[in-house]
Amino acid sequence: MKHLLKLEDWSTEEIINTLNLADQLKYEQKHGIEHKILKGKSLGMIFEKSSTRTRVSFEVGMTQLGGYPLFLSSNDLQIGRGEPVEDTARVLSRFLDGIMIRTFEQKEVEALAVYGSIPIINGLTDYCHPCQVLADLMTIREFKGKLEGLKMCFIGDGNNMMNSLIVGALSTGMSFSAACPKDYMPPKHIIEFGEKYGNGKFEIVTDPLEAAKNADVVYTDVWASMGQEEEKKIREAAFAGYQVNKELMAVTNKDCMVLHCLPAHRGKRLLQMYLKSMQTKSLRRQKTVFTLRRLFLLNVWQMKCLKKFDDSLIL
Ligand code: NVA
Repeated sequence: MKHLLKLEDWSTEEIINTLNLADQLKYEQKHGIEHKILKGKSLGMIFEKSSTRTRVSFEVGMTQLGGYPLFLSSNDLQIGRGEPVEDTARVLSRFLDGIMIRTFEQKEVEALAVYGSIPIINGLTDYCHPCQVLADLMTIREFKGKLEGLKMCFIGDGNNMMNSLIVGALSTGMSFSAACPKDYMPPKHIIEFGEKYGNGKFEIVTDPLEAAKNADVVYTDVWASMGQEEEKKIREAAFAGYQVNKELMAVTNKDCMVLHCLPAHRGKRLLQMYLKSMQTKSLRRQKTVFTLRRLFLLNVWQMKCLKKFDDSLIL
């Protein structure tokens, strides 16, 4: 049984196979080729944090594959009233074929996998966001034609997005650089992962211009993630210089892509100057494809977990 708890658990081959299969499903969807490969399967979706894109893409993705998505708000579940995650995992495993969970602590997701007997998908924790990064890799590959040899640069908080981007980029042959204020660096073991697998192509600095030099992809995220609302003011001061703006884009490679996992807070955060720049069009385009890519990727994952996939489907 395959879970998606964090990207570190997946090999390069698994990541690339998933991207290939996602391309295939996208092609089939576009050309009206039916692929109801999850007929009769049900996916429980537990949300302990807000969601727009993840919820909709899972729900629509599951439906397009012929399966049944079930939205489970933690406010309405016993887990929200203190039922141990072990019990929830055991009970839900008897009703469902898979669980997607968005929550705070990574250990809750890991516990579902330990105590349950069905595939678990991490739909975001404070620690990581693997589904988003698979979708980003698919988007980059589609626009740039490859991943290997490209340079990804992350500007901002050493948070869930950055943790997964480090793993996703390095696992697929990209180089990775980041600029973070020194009190907001990613956890030590993620930096160690970068140093080990980056092979000299990994760096974290405090100067955004240094990090962005010759980047092919610039990525950014909010300064205060869900659950950090009380730190908003302190964070706004700490991240004031960490903007994706014209000055920063001037040191990147030609045709550098800008990605943001969204939601983006216009007029306040990293994108404010960038949005006004000449590359607004490309950003808007990314925004549209994000949703699509994720939808197909999630489809793929569910298919991998719930049904042994047919290699002949890969383009
Ligand atoms: N870092 C953000 C990502 C949202 C998709 C958060 O956790 O709120």
